[in-house]
Amino acid sequence: MTGAPPPGERRPLGRTGLDVFPVGLGTWGLAPGAALRSRPAGYGPIDEATAERVVERALELGVDFFDTAPTYGNGAAETLLGRVLAARAAPERARLVVATKVGRRRRDPAPPIRDLTASGMRRSIEESLARLRRDRIDVLLLHDPPPDIASRDEVFDTLEALRREGLFRVLGASVERVEDGIALLRAGRVEALEVELHALRPEAETALLPLARERGAGVIVRSPLGHGVLSGRLPASRRFPPTDHRHLKLSGYRLRDAVERAEALRPWLEAPGRTFLHGALAYALGAEAVSVAIPGARTSAHIEEAVETLAAAARSPPVDRRAVIDLARAGHGLPRQAARRARWLLSKLYRTVRYRLGI
Ligand SMILES: NC(=O)c1ccc[n+]([C@@H]2O[C@H](COP(=O)([O-])OP(=O)(O)OC[C@H]3O[C@@H](n4cnc5c(N)ncnc54)[C@H](OP(=O)(O)O)[C@@H]3O)[C@@H](O)[C@H]2O)c1
Repeated sequence: MTGAPPPGERRPLGRTGLDVFPVGLGTWGLAPGAALRSRPAGYGPIDEATAERVVERALELGVDFFDTAPTYGNGAAETLLGRVLAARAAPERARLVVATKVGRRRRDPAPPIRDLTASGMRRSIEESLARLRRDRIDVLLLHDPPPDIASRDEVFDTLEALRREGLFRVLGASVERVEDGIALLRAGRVEALEVELHALRPEAETALLPLARERGAGVIVRSPLGHGVLSGRLPASRRFPPTDHRHLKLSGYRLRDAVERAEALRPWLEAPGRTFLHGALAYALGAEAVSVAIPGARTSAHIEEAVETLAAAARSPPVDRRAVIDLARAGHGLPRQAARRARWLLSKLYRTVRYRLGI
């Protein structure tokens, strides 16, 4: 673990020729109207004025990397971002880096489906360009591609042809599984990778980042706050509305377990001059080869606190990465997994019995 550049310094996005402020902005939670759909599509309702203000505040604070996707709010996040960025003066606009995604087709109100066809990808990119009001996408990421993606020559041939037409500059992938990122890097398919890396899920640090550095790939950290658990302020009793994707992923025992594991990290993340959230983001930003972390801020205060991480990291002792990784591994260990599984089965049994008895 050789570590990342000092906090606050601009970082290269691998060998792409782009460099960025290390705290970026993820826009999944900024899609106005996302909650109007019949299924969870983001983080629930947010009014347009608040969402616009988050992007504006991020710009004021020096944020210059924005991550979005055609599927966030069925195009709404791209439209919002495009509108706010278009209002900035041309020289500022030109130095901003916008990453969007391709490979999943919107089918509102049904969930998106994968679409890696030549015509589907072209249409998706052209629609993104129109919504973002840009001539070229700076970073185009395959959106949660399938496990066999690295061997799909036809997908990369199509994308290269679209790149030659000038539709985008850098090709990357946003992957769910570390293995998929490794396969893409080994096959030399991508120049940037977006991966989940945080103190509750640190696998990418040892499994993927050394290879990313070796191959000169830029690394974008998605969900750096573990969907909010690593804010250090999420109560285990919180109930998410059905419009919030955490309603499915972080309900009941799952949330209690995540909060419990996060609390075990508190002594390592929190320090004098550094909040729990600062420590969590500093952990992600301190990993080698990481170019930028993209917290999903939903308020101006959120993005302010995220950017403040850089000053907090400079004035506090470094996060003990080894201790964080070891603790996270212990949390995923077999006895813990068995205990979690047993708790889940018991709660299911309890709910079934209550349902049958009508109580
Ligand atoms: N498939 C993909 O490509 C993919 C998948 C996931 C994420 N991403 C990208 O990564 C971005 C971030 O990921 P994410 O939204 O999943 O998770 P995240 O950044 O780990 O967590 C976001 C949540 O953390 C809480 N939060 C944020 N800033 C905070 C602050 N300063 N203080 C307290 N709480 C704060 C908010 O939740 P509360 O509502 O609890 O306040 C917010 O909704 C997304 O917007 C998206 O751009 C991409």
